[in-house]
Amino acid sequence: MFGRLIAISSIILSFTSLVTAQSTSTAPVPTGVPVQGDYNGPLRPRVHYSPPKGFMNDPNGLFKDVNGTWHLYYQYNPTDVVAGNQHWGHATSPDLYTWTNQPIALFPPNSTSGVFSGSIVVDPENTSGFFPNSTNGVVAIYTLNTPEKQVQEIAYSFDDGYTFTPYSGNPVLDVGSNQFRDPKVVRYGDSWVMVIAFASEYVIGIYTSPDLKEWTHASNVSHIGFLGVQYECPNLVEIPIRNSSTGTDKGWVLTISINPGAPLGGSITQYFPGEFNGTHFVPHDGATRLSNFGKDDYAGQFFYNESVSIGWASNWEYRNLVPTATEGWRSSMTLPRENYLIDSGVRGWELVQEIYDIQPILSDQLASSDNLVNTTSQVDFGNSTSVYFDMNITYPADVTFSTYASINFTFSTQSSNEQFKGGYILTGSTPNTIWVDRGNTNGFDYPLFTNKFSASQVKPAERIQGIIDHSLFEVYVDNGSVVGTVDVYPTEPFTSLSIGTGDLPEGSTVSLQVWGLKDTWA
Ligand SMILES: *[C@@H]1O[C@H](CO)[C@@H](O)[C@H](O)[C@H]1NC(C)=O
Ligand SMILES: *[C@@H]1O[C@H](CO)[C@@H](O)[C@H](O)[C@H]1NC(C)=O
Ligand SMILES: *[C@@H]1O[C@H](CO)[C@@H](O)[C@H](O)[C@H]1NC(C)=O
Ligand SMILES: *[C@@H]1O[C@H](CO)[C@@H](O)[C@H](O)[C@H]1NC(C)=O
Ligand SMILES: *[C@@H]1O[C@H](CO)[C@@H](O)[C@H](O)[C@H]1NC(C)=O
Ligand SMILES: *[C@@H]1O[C@H](CO)[C@@H](O)[C@H](O)[C@H]1NC(C)=O
Ligand SMILES: *[C@@H]1O[C@H](CO)[C@@H](O)[C@H](O)[C@H]1NC(C)=O
Ligand SMILES: *[C@@H]1O[C@H](CO)[C@@H](O)[C@H](O)[C@H]1NC(C)=O
Ligand SMILES: *[C@@H]1O[C@H](CO)[C@@H](O)[C@H](O)[C@H]1NC(C)=O
Ligand SMILES: *[C@@H]1O[C@H](CO)[C@@H](O)[C@H](O)[C@H]1NC(C)=O
Ligand SMILES: *[C@@H]1O[C@H](CO)[C@@H](O)[C@H](O)[C@H]1NC(C)=O
Ligand SMILES: *[C@@H]1O[C@H](CO)[C@@H](O)[C@H](O)[C@H]1NC(C)=O
Repeated sequence: MFGRLIAISSIILSFTSLVTAQSTSTAPVPTGVPVQGDYNGPLRPRVHYSPPKGFMNDPNGLFKDVNGTWHLYYQYNPTDVVAGNQHWGHATSPDLYTWTNQPIALFPPNSTSGVFSGSIVVDPENTSGFFPNSTNGVVAIYTLNTPEKQVQEIAYSFDDGYTFTPYSGNPVLDVGSNQFRDPKVVRYGDSWVMVIAFASEYVIGIYTSPDLKEWTHASNVSHIGFLGVQYECPNLVEIPIRNSSTGTDKGWVLTISINPGAPLGGSITQYFPGEFNGTHFVPHDGATRLSNFGKDDYAGQFFYNESVSIGWASNWEYRNLVPTATEGWRSSMTLPRENYLIDSGVRGWELVQEIYDIQPILSDQLASSDNLVNTTSQVDFGNSTSVYFDMNITYPADVTFSTYASINFTFSTQSSNEQFKGGYILTGSTPNTIWVDRGNTNGFDYPLFTNKFSASQVKPAERIQGIIDHSLFEVYVDNGSVVGTVDVYPTEPFTSLSIGTGDLPEGSTVSLQVWGLKDTWA
């Protein structure tokens, strides 16, 4: 009864409402075998993960098993190309780029429930008591959503995360709320620590547990950063500091995803570097920092006890409308990223998100230059369909940009005259700005699918890396100090890249390499 009263007063915009409103399919869900998919469609990314078919959203349960295999689970509707009927899909990879689809890992108990987002931990010390005979025990901690409320459940695995058994004592955490979700658990000393969103109260709850079964409320972090309409998918993780001036080589960061109501519209992830002492988190300063200047990077999660993360490369404003449904699937993940913090002095602490080692997927080298100053290079994709470019720039010591200097990159289609454009503007009077523009493509039109994004830096960029992957573009400036992720839907594949610089000051240098990327699904 208490739960029902809460349900009636729930916010109409909640994810729960959207899900129940939009999932109508009753097709059977395959068990014990991977869902089959066709990865040949023109919009299919070849190096970013996308589900075999159906609809995917948040990455879940990210962990690396004892054999070094990376596991990616994800919010999954296997029976429709819109959100709803939430399961945990599953894929594994040796390198975070080449994925093998696995059987669905977690199923809702019935058609009115959903297995919502959560995380996975490895329990080598058997703190949970589930693992009398092994040191590779795996426990998933996730939200079970029902029409009445959202409770936290756990399930354990004896086979490195391929199959799970729900705990008979579920739920392990129930506060009677229908807006209480997305537990992310880490180890701190002898304790487990969970962060979880009281989504519509703008509170991140911190809970502790000795055994993953009994959870004690430790503290709340509330009303920080942008509120949007709801808080979701928090992460609280300790990652390396690369340039510590104090001798501390690790630091904590809290991430909070908000939806809708992001500054650019829809959903986005913000982060807060700070101090954590096992029960309480305090941000280092009052700043709100965004993890991406594009619109398509949400609900990012860190792999358990690793500084590697992956985000969902879409936006709730249009995720159910994008044209990939004609190929039977919707949504892809971002590239994997290696994360660390830097002490930026007066700007405080900043998160750097480097592209995770891309070497394993480089294929043909398409262009190479040590001198791209004031010239433009035309690069044909040849037999490659996804392409990576890497540019390093140096400037003379006492540089002043009296004129408008520019770096541009434009991807074009063969005959439909569509383009994805981007570049970097350096001037004497305004800041140094990375920009992208997906507006000159014709595969998707919707008012909230906005076209242009940009971000400014204090100092001119010294490195720009970009990846076009069919329907997804990502740019990483200065090794991931500034990251932009945008979906793009041309009616024909991109087949060439024009990349160059102009009006750079005397004494500048520019090196460029362009690579075709392997088709990881071939
Ligand atoms: C992990 O490696 C061990 C030892 O080589 C092997 O017995 C086990 O089957 C492997 N597990 C998985 C999930 O590959
Ligand atoms: C579906 O499962 C949930 C969670 O176990 C339970 O609360 C609910 O009563 C079930 N609904 C039906 C119709 O069986
Ligand atoms: C694991 O925990 C269970 C339950 O507490 C216990 O029976 C078992 O002995 C433990 N095994 C080890 C190796 O600690
Ligand atoms: C380990 O113990 C569990 C629980 O008793 C059992 O189900 C499982 O089969 C055992 N695994 C092995 C490899 O013996
Ligand atoms: C933590 O936040 C939740 C959600 O707003 C609230 O119900 C609870 O009372 C708070 N706990 C404390 C100790 O402030
Ligand atoms: C953690 O910080 C809180 C708030 O400052 C404090 O009350 C608590 O005693 C601290 N815990 C430890 C173990 O230092
Ligand atoms: C986390 O990983 C480090 C190695 O990077 C290891 O030393 C440590 O034991 C791990 N911690 C846990 C809780 O698994
Ligand atoms: C850390 O690196 C940033 C970016 O390169 C730089 O701005 C900052 O001064 C460095 N901080 C220290 C303490 O070296
Ligand atoms: C692409 O073409 C190049 C040269 O034309 C060739 O060396 C390479 O093997 C081809 N790659 C693939 C994947 O077909
Ligand atoms: C880059 O693009 C801008 C905007 O279209 C243009 O003004 C500038 O001349 C271009 N620079 C080069 C080197 O092509
Ligand atoms: C690039 O062009 C600008 C303006 O046209 C010129 O001033 C500068 O000397 C050129 N840079 C180099 C390195 O030649
Ligand atoms: C750019 O610099 C990085 C090292 O900072 C290097 O690994 C990379 O190969 C360089 N790329 C080009 C195109 O020079």
